[in-house]
Amino acid sequence: MALLDAGGFFGAADESQSSLEDQIRGDYLVDAMSTLSYDAVNLGGQDVRFGEDFLTYHLSDVTFPVVSSNLLNADGSPYVATTTRFERGGYSVGVVGVLDDGDAAQVAAESDAAGEPLQVAAMADAAASAVAEVASADLVVLLAFMAPADAEMLAMGLPDVDVVVHAGGNLQPSAATELGSQFAVGTGYDGKWVVRLDLDEDGGAWSQRSSFVVSMDGAWPDDPEMDAHYQAYLAELAEAADEIVAGIEQEVPAGGSYVGSDTCAVCHPSQTEQWQTTPHSHAFETLVETNHDYSPSCYACHTVGFGFVGGFLLPEDTPERMDVGCESCHGAGEEHVAAPGPGWGLEPTDQCLGCHTPEDSPQFDMGTYLPQVVH
Ligand code: HEC
Ligand code: HEC
Ligand code: HEC
Ligand code: HEC
Repeated sequence: MALLDAGGFFGAADESQSSLEDQIRGDYLVDAMSTLSYDAVNLGGQDVRFGEDFLTYHLSDVTFPVVSSNLLNADGSPYVATTTRFERGGYSVGVVGVLDDGDAAQVAAESDAAGEPLQVAAMADAAASAVAEVASADLVVLLAFMAPADAEMLAMGLPDVDVVVHAGGNLQPSAATELGSQFAVGTGYDGKWVVRLDLDEDGGAWSQRSSFVVSMDGAWPDDPEMDAHYQAYLAELAEAADEIVAGIEQEVPAGGSYVGSDTCAVCHPSQTEQWQTTPHSHAFETLVETNHDYSPSCYACHTVGFGFVGGFLLPEDTPERMDVGCESCHGAGEEHVAAPGPGWGLEPTDQCLGCHTPEDSPQFDMGTYLPQVVH
């Protein structure tokens, strides 16, 4: 078996998330990939998002080969190896990495701290010369960080490639599709899936025995070593939490600042009673139970008003802003409390999708979800 990654492990840049939290996560992710003994890892444009120094530092002690045929240093030399080769099950395997050359401007901007930005060479030519280097291997794999259609086009123009593995964007994973005699698989986003492809060889030709998507969900018991690694990551996040949330509060767009659900309860007891029967009222407990009570990237959806004046900040600072509260759906209440009356607040049903995203709430359906929360 060969374990491969098409890149993008530092995650997509998201303005709403602290880059320090993402950097700590990136640090642990790279170590975890070493522990798992990956056979080859490609780089995606977003892996440069914390700058060249950060990437170089974190790749300096990895135990897996990192490949990219078209990510180049400022002087035009390859940033990492263009290819890697290994033996598996009596066969030689050659692996080539490539990233979308459409990301060139972004890569240059994000890696330019020293005035010598990384470059991205045209992908078709760069991949073609790298594939030529490993064409004699029994199996040639192209790891492509780009849209599926682009990865498939690229592979079809490179007949020596047997398998193309693509990643990038917020896409669902896909088991192998056949492109003539080639195979294409997509790994999906956020490391949530592993796509397995089993091949048979006959007279130099590869055929598909099976291919399927494996969801990395709670059905799998945690590996003790990886779990210890994950808990160490959470502990480091907790240490850095003060720094991560420092200066994060913005002015609330409307309604004054947040006042907390307890304040609303005084005048709206029946709605409060109903709310207490919903999972919203103990959404922070969910974070505590999973040891994520100091993971700021969870707060936007499991607390009231995180990131805004008067909203949740950290558990010890703002215990009364834990959970999905009244103001998560109705809006910040300071002005309403000062002048109570009808005709106030946001339209609650416009707020659901801000938290019930396809990634975090794939089953969301207004018709079945709304009746469970109206009071
Ligand atoms: C601030 C973020 C946020 C908003 C806004 C929000 N929710 Fe939720 N919702 C959550 C979270 C987080 C959970 C999971 C709570 C838990 O169990 O920890 C949840 C859980 C639920 C559940 C329970 C689902 C289950 O599996 O039992 C329902 C139903 C629900 N929400 C409906 C809604 C509806 C309808 C709206 C809009 C009117 C809405 N939510 C608005 C964050 C939000
Ligand atoms: C974009 C909003 C969002 C973010 C960010 C978010 N969650 Fe959630 N989470 C939800 C929603 C919405 C639900 C309810 C999903 C449903 O039942 O449909 C939920 C449900 C959960 C559940 C299942 C609760 C249960 O009792 O079944 C867990 C566990 C959870 N979240 C943990 C986390 C952790 C840990 C983080 C941070 C690493 C996080 N969430 C970040 C929105 C979010
Ligand atoms: C998950 C989103 C959500 C949360 C959380 C929530 N509400 Fe509501 N609330 C609604 C919806 C939806 C309506 C119905 C609005 C409509 O019909 O336009 C509503 C209506 C109301 C109304 C108007 C009167 C009524 O009963 O129709 C009041 C008052 C109210 N909520 C108070 C509260 C209070 C107090 C809390 C906190 C204890 C709270 N809400 C939490 C979604 C929410
Ligand atoms: C001092 C009492 C008081 C407090 C505190 C209070 N409200 Fe109200 N609220 C009222 C009165 C009075 C009305 C108008 C009569 C009614 O609809 O019950 C109202 C109306 C509402 C409505 C219906 C608005 C509409 O569409 O007509 C919502 C929603 C609401 N409140 C939510 C909240 C939330 C959320 C909080 C906490 C941030 C809160 N209220 C705090 C007294 C209060």
